[in-house]
Amino acid sequence: MVGESVPSRVGELRRLIEEAKLGGGLKAIEAQHAKGKLTARERLELLFDPDSVLEFDAFVTHRATEFGMTERKAFGDGVVTVLGRVNERPVVGIAQDFTFMGGSLGEMHAAKIVKAMQYALSAGMPVVFLNDSGGARIQEGVDSLRGYGDIFYLNVMASGVVPQIAVIMGPCAGGAVYSPALMDFVVMVDKTSYMFITGPRVVKAAIGEEVTEEELGGPRIHVTKSGVAHFIVRDDKEAIEVVKKLLSYLPSNNMEMPPRAATRDPPDRTESKLNEIVPEDPLKAYNMYEVIDAVFDRGSFFDVSREYARNAITGFARLNGWVVGVVANQPMILTGALDINASDKITRFVRILNAFNIPIVTFVDVPGYIPGTYQEHNGIIRHGAKVLYAYSEATVPKLTVIVRKAYGGAYIAMSSRHLGADFVAAWPTAEIAVMGAEGAAEIIWRSELAKAKTPEERHQLLDRLVTEYKNKFLHPYIAAARGYIDSVIEPATTRPTLIKALEYLLSKRDVRVRTPPKKHGLIPM
Ligand code: HXC
Repeated sequence: MVGESVPSRVGELRRLIEEAKLGGGLKAIEAQHAKGKLTARERLELLFDPDSVLEFDAFVTHRATEFGMTERKAFGDGVVTVLGRVNERPVVGIAQDFTFMGGSLGEMHAAKIVKAMQYALSAGMPVVFLNDSGGARIQEGVDSLRGYGDIFYLNVMASGVVPQIAVIMGPCAGGAVYSPALMDFVVMVDKTSYMFITGPRVVKAAIGEEVTEEELGGPRIHVTKSGVAHFIVRDDKEAIEVVKKLLSYLPSNNMEMPPRAATRDPPDRTESKLNEIVPEDPLKAYNMYEVIDAVFDRGSFFDVSREYARNAITGFARLNGWVVGVVANQPMILTGALDINASDKITRFVRILNAFNIPIVTFVDVPGYIPGTYQEHNGIIRHGAKVLYAYSEATVPKLTVIVRKAYGGAYIAMSSRHLGADFVAAWPTAEIAVMGAEGAAEIIWRSELAKAKTPEERHQLLDRLVTEYKNKFLHPYIAAARGYIDSVIEPATTRPTLIKALEYLLSKRDVRVRTPPKKHGLIPM
């Protein structure tokens, strides 16, 4: 045990610190490396600025006695918790250490995480949680479950107060998935991570379905199909890079503004190619990413959930150095129409932006909602309503650019003035109407069309009526005459126009936006 003289006590401490750094031991560290994974400490080292880290609870051990647990102890109890700086800004880091009992979560392991999250809440620092764990520590039974409960509770308390980023760098199964799910962003490492409630063996036993871990809950599934994860990365190193990039767009907490970055991109830069980007043929697509790239500070767009619901685009960008959130329809996928998944993607992102004081810039080219029984039966009404709710509720500056189609309910949903947008611009190619020309003509001139004697005659008549409808409705000037849009702008001038509008609106504050007093609203989940 501890020696008696001061030098021997110091020597003992040094030995103990070195022991603590080894977690579950050298053999387990080798096994971790052999799987292509870094250890908890190596991951934190990559994340934090050199010499900035203050570790706490390094000497915590479990106090379980059952099932040989008295002999199985390691300092830290399978998780490393630290305060540190990422690009000079304070951040709380939590890294599960798979080398000790598979990073499984027992009572004291959980208590360390809870303490770290409490630091984050009280000091207003983002939380980065690097998950690599076999889940609830079986030997610690209900104390493990209590630990998860405590963490979930803190995830909810911290939600909307400090940014929470989960990185999945190994197994994440059972109820353990709910801590990442309650956080704001989930990054998954390809090949080494998975997330599911029930693993392949239980799935086989319960419903006879044979499926691999990868197929059931691998990163690709979660970024494309379930939407649970926002980013897929090649390895641990890239995961940390994504975390750093995310943090660069986020404020430390909900009482701060996101950090402004210097830019060499002139605020008055016009982009003449935008004048030609919308095709003459309304049925032809164009790539909304080209619009985004041309408007925001060069190279600043950072796509979030890129591979999920690709008919909608969500991401961070900068305008004259100010952080903004971008939401857009993507005409290249499903004509940019809204469906259940796109509605979920947009809603979640808009709420994150609003929570963290990030202005929203929305680009609209939306012909409506995807029709059919699949969408209706699975609740497009409920999910679509969330988009209306989120935009209406958002009090950050809201800027909208109507690029082309803005039809019907989808026009209203996509950050229209009617839901509280602060500045709405339209390109001359904007078509703001109840619906597209063909559908409208078939309805309002049904009896005239029925009188046509031949299909040929009907076709010609329809053509004429469609043109009449287009001339009357499919442009931005009726909406402009009513003040529903603030400005019809030349597409080339979109960047300078948005920067002007944004810089006048940055002083918008919640206290000056009146909402009725209530405990909380009831967003249709
Ligand atoms: C205790 C665990 C453990 C756990 C792993 N270990 N998971 N110990 N409780 N949950 C230990 C192993 O016994 C082993 O100890 C060491 O960690 C490494 O595990 P291996 O199996 O050798 O590693 P690997 O082959 O990579 O497999 C990793 C694994 C597997 C896929 C995670 O260990 C596994 O299936 N574990 C059980 C997962 C599980 O069912 N967890 C409960 C989920 S339910 P030694 O001594 O050999 O080094 C849940 C409920 C949460 O978490 C509820 C919240 C509300």
